[in-house]
Amino acid sequence: AVADGYLRRIPKAELHCHLAGTLRATTVAELAARAGLALPRPADKLYQWPDFYGFLDVLRLTALVLRTPEDFSRAVYEYVEDAVRDGNLRHVEFFFNPDYFYPNGIDYPAMVDGMIEGIEAAKKMFGVSSLLICCIDRSTNTPAQAVEIVETAIAHRRDHVVGIGLDGAERAGPPATFAEAYALAKRAGLHRTAHCCEDNQTLVEAPPTNYLICRDVLQCDRIDHGYNMLASDFVMAEARRDGLYFTPCAWTSLVHNRPHRPQRIRRMVEAGLNVTINTDDPAMFETDLGHGFTTLFESIGWGPDMARKFSLNSVEGSWLDESDKSALR
Ligand code: ADE
Ligand code: ZN
Repeated sequence: AVADGYLRRIPKAELHCHLAGTLRATTVAELAARAGLALPRPADKLYQWPDFYGFLDVLRLTALVLRTPEDFSRAVYEYVEDAVRDGNLRHVEFFFNPDYFYPNGIDYPAMVDGMIEGIEAAKKMFGVSSLLICCIDRSTNTPAQAVEIVETAIAHRRDHVVGIGLDGAERAGPPATFAEAYALAKRAGLHRTAHCCEDNQTLVEAPPTNYLICRDVLQCDRIDHGYNMLASDFVMAEARRDGLYFTPCAWTSLVHNRPHRPQRIRRMVEAGLNVTINTDDPAMFETDLGHGFTTLFESIGWGPDMARKFSLNSVEGSWLDESDKSALR
């Protein structure tokens, strides 16, 4: 066993973290009041849902509190502050879904520039670097809308926005649906990741072969989650040979699957995949970077060598350039 303190203190990069899922309940309450936005429950009781689809509804609702560039700056800064304290965060790559925020009356450049302001302030205060991943919600966007999202990211190119992602309910948008958006991103030199084989979906809704589609059709250079791949020895062998990095998340408060996560992550590691440990939506799932590591290690009984392995993996799997990676190693 390894002490909690060690697991919290070991330096970490986080590669799978949705900005809208990081908001402190107190910040949500304050911004909602200021915006005159009525929440269905008090903010400290907001993060409850019957199932994964209910969770996505709350996530989209919570996103409605971010209205100005200052709000985006504050959200980034507060998450870095929390994750430095809770898990010694050194680098983070935030997903943001631009279309979650358009109803708030903010446009793409304003939200991104707001986040960049927060990134720079957090870098100055904590020495933590951050990058941004422009994300497509597959359950609410058509293929044409996904192309538009990528076109917008390209038209308003910012150095901090280094890639695209695909989240939401996998069964609603199998990966091949978004081939055109991903091809466009690749031509523009953007990195590509996608939520794939997440265990809140059945093996029919998110089959192991989705990995092969993400690899070959979307040409992903990283994969978020991946648990359902364990059902196919063939797909696991391919993934091991490919060497892509995976971003499973140690803890989820999504009902039904919480007890299985640590064992699934253990099996992914033992199968030889390149695994990193992440929080996904830490505020909403009532977890944090240190808590994810401590619950996982408690459950599996790994020692400090594995903690160091995950720490290094998170640097190697990041989308930092080579000189920034070597500064973190
Ligand atoms: N959006 C935020 N977190 C997500 C997750 N775990 N799966 C799909 N979409 C998400
Ligand atoms: Zn996610």
